[in-house]
Amino acid sequence: MHQHKLPIIQTLHEEHMAVLALLERLENFLNKRKADKPPANGDAETSDLLTALAASMDSEIGHHYAFEEKHLFPRFLSLGGPGVPMILRGEHDVIRPIAGRLAELARAAVSGGFTPASWGEFHELGLEMVEREVFHVQKEEMAFLPALDQMLPPQSSAELEAAYAAMKAAA
Ligand SMILES: [Fe+2]
Ligand SMILES: [Fe+2]
Repeated sequence: MHQHKLPIIQTLHEEHMAVLALLERLENFLNKRKADKPPANGDAETSDLLTALAASMDSEIGHHYAFEEKHLFPRFLSLGGPGVPMILRGEHDVIRPIAGRLAELARAAVSGGFTPASWGEFHELGLEMVEREVFHVQKEEMAFLPALDQMLPPQSSAELEAAYAAMKAAA
């Protein structure tokens, strides 16, 4: 696994790996099941995945996206131009409502199970989320974080880490 020079970039990278692992679990789970056949209510594997998914969606579209938008995109813009941050920001805007709805459906299903309608919606949105977010994370991993790791002055890493810790504490 790639090791970054700046601790704040390494933190973001590790969060990306965690969200990719969870989305892979989600994709396998959905591909094993048909969109018109909801899993049994109370199934332990299902509840476990849904609980982890809801928490992951909250932190991804919560503090992770917010930190990138508030602290990393502006820095990238001033060092490397507007193209990359504009694309990534646009992807956040598309993914945010999908992830939010997915977390909502997951929480409702943990407490009360799926209905045929909520399962159908969850199945479709889940696969869309996997596709969009995996693509987004890969883009950040390939083009964005390695460039920032090179361009950011090393002394700004500690300042960014403190800012990120404060955002997580406030979430
Ligand atoms: Fe992002
Ligand atoms: Fe990210």
